[in-house]
Amino acid sequence: MRLLFIGDVVGRAGRAVLVEQLPDLRRAWSLDCVIVNGENAAGGFGITESICADFLDAGADCVTLGNHAFDQREALVFIARQPRLIRPLNYPSGAPGGGANLIETAAGARVLVVNLMGRVFMDALDDPFAAAERELSACPLGLGCDAAVIDFHAEASSEKQAFAHFVDGRVSLVVGTHTHVPTADHQILPHGSGYMTDAGMTGDYDSVIGMEKDEPIRRFTTKLPSARFEPAGGAATLCGVAVEIGRNGLATRIAPVRVGGKLAQARPEFWESVTQTVVA
Ligand SMILES: [Fe+2]
Ligand SMILES: [Fe+2]
Repeated sequence: MRLLFIGDVVGRAGRAVLVEQLPDLRRAWSLDCVIVNGENAAGGFGITESICADFLDAGADCVTLGNHAFDQREALVFIARQPRLIRPLNYPSGAPGGGANLIETAAGARVLVVNLMGRVFMDALDDPFAAAERELSACPLGLGCDAAVIDFHAEASSEKQAFAHFVDGRVSLVVGTHTHVPTADHQILPHGSGYMTDAGMTGDYDSVIGMEKDEPIRRFTTKLPSARFEPAGGAATLCGVAVEIGRNGLATRIAPVRVGGKLAQARPEFWESVTQTVVA
């Protein structure tokens, strides 16, 4: 199974590269499943129903969220009627929507997608380790699902790594989101789970984590808010991670993905077609 996870889509620039590139990537790489983090899709803060629909139309199978899940108030309502949009599982009970979703690929494979939020330098939520334990016990890899992906939305790389080792061998992929910067530590862990500390954002990297630079600099230097944060509008890089998943649900290959914009480009060479013109 070929799975692509795409990190936090930020604002109009992020949405543009996603909607422009995803249909082609899905076709070119024969993707079975695509998961997109959309917590910053609407002006950097949250997601609207029409943006979520655009992502699903472009080829996403599931959209995950994070600490900005409900910045757009309409999400409090429409998440209940859109099962392909999930928010962190460890929100307090009673929060709208769900934190896990079992989706079925066109070929009939069942993919469990779980969204969790870390607690280090983040809002105090329920224990994400215990929440994962409950979810994975209820839907074990190989029994309840054919693949399992966890979007672990967190600030601290230590918490992300500890969590990944905690579920290693029980999921296909643990991928971090939230820092908006891609890490270079994509790997297959000892017990077979694919891992990357952060997928990076899908947005304009000539920015401060996706936002126009002036206001963040002003706030760091003066400690006074003087304007709204606005998403940077330059060409965006689609960032994420590509994973090949074997019949046992564990990762067999993993590679970073960076398409468009100003970051160095990266594509999974194991999926790129090898048709070459031989010049005699
Ligand atoms: Fe984010
Ligand atoms: Fe976040």
